[in-house]
Amino acid sequence: MALVTTKEMFAKAIKSDYAIGAFNVNNMEIIQGIVEAAQIENAPLILQVSAGARKYAKPIYLLKLVEAAIEDTGVDVALHLDHGEDFDICKKCVDDGFTSVMIDGSKHPFEENIALTKQVVEYAHAHGVSVEAELGKLAGVEDNVKVDARSATFTDPDEAAEFVERTGVDSLAIAIGTSHGAYKFKGEPYLDFERLKKIHGLIPDTPLVLHGASSVLKEFVDRCNEFGGEIPGAQGVPEDMIHEAVKYGICKVNVDTDLRLAMTAEIRRVLAEHPEEFDPRKYLGPGRDAITRMVQHKIRDMLNASGTK
Ligand code: G3H
Ligand code: 13P
Ligand code: ZN
Repeated sequence: MALVTTKEMFAKAIKSDYAIGAFNVNNMEIIQGIVEAAQIENAPLILQVSAGARKYAKPIYLLKLVEAAIEDTGVDVALHLDHGEDFDICKKCVDDGFTSVMIDGSKHPFEENIALTKQVVEYAHAHGVSVEAELGKLAGVEDNVKVDARSATFTDPDEAAEFVERTGVDSLAIAIGTSHGAYKFKGEPYLDFERLKKIHGLIPDTPLVLHGASSVLKEFVDRCNEFGGEIPGAQGVPEDMIHEAVKYGICKVNVDTDLRLAMTAEIRRVLAEHPEEFDPRKYLGPGRDAITRMVQHKIRDMLNASGTK
């Protein structure tokens, strides 16, 4: 499979202050929609597969679909395991031909996270595969705790430097206030940029990863709500905060929720406006096109992040 690694992508991104979009894939339409956007924008791309995606679509389908997308379009794609929870799943993905894996040991104590990450790094590197690890815990707005209490779970800069040194990991996901899903903040969006600056200052050559980085674009939230959805109060990471994060070492920006919202908004619209329609191609097709437009926007925004300084 003509997949590429993230090594070169990140080396260029970190030097030129832009980020690569890492988009979660779950079915054919999502893969096609994203890859078409990267083809139009002539941009490097990371497609990532979660445990949920593997369960939903079966790993073999996702692999073959990604392979087909590359053959069809010629786009350079890095295929990445998102939130691998143990050594076995990382090993399986390395063996299957993924070019990058994430070992998410963030729920373990520091020393256990180091030991687990080292084990994955050793296996993956022996097979030419890059490794992302995570230190610190992503917040959840549902945690309903104050920022100062939440920040106790944010990534400690000194630990981050020690972690990278001792594990030999290629990139590091950090916790500075983002969370997964469509409800990231209750009040004003807040990210701990001082912490990010410190982390980047200590490990300037390590590509940093921002999980929970969807912007929850108003256009799609409004369209979902207009056509029967109920997602009031959804809030993401404002795009100017993504630009700011890119200045301080963020090279990989993880996006899943924005894909879900774009596709769902368009499917809702088509079904509401055409209640007589029952051919899945008639709503999945527009859903796929909505993903392409949204991903084009995200890719441009991330590639031009430094232009906004
Ligand atoms: O990490 C979160 C991603 O959005 C994947 O979500 O586990 O529902 O596939 P998922
Ligand atoms: P979002 O829920 O903000 O899209 O985050 C996705 C993610 O971090 C996948 O690992
Ligand atoms: Zn994540």
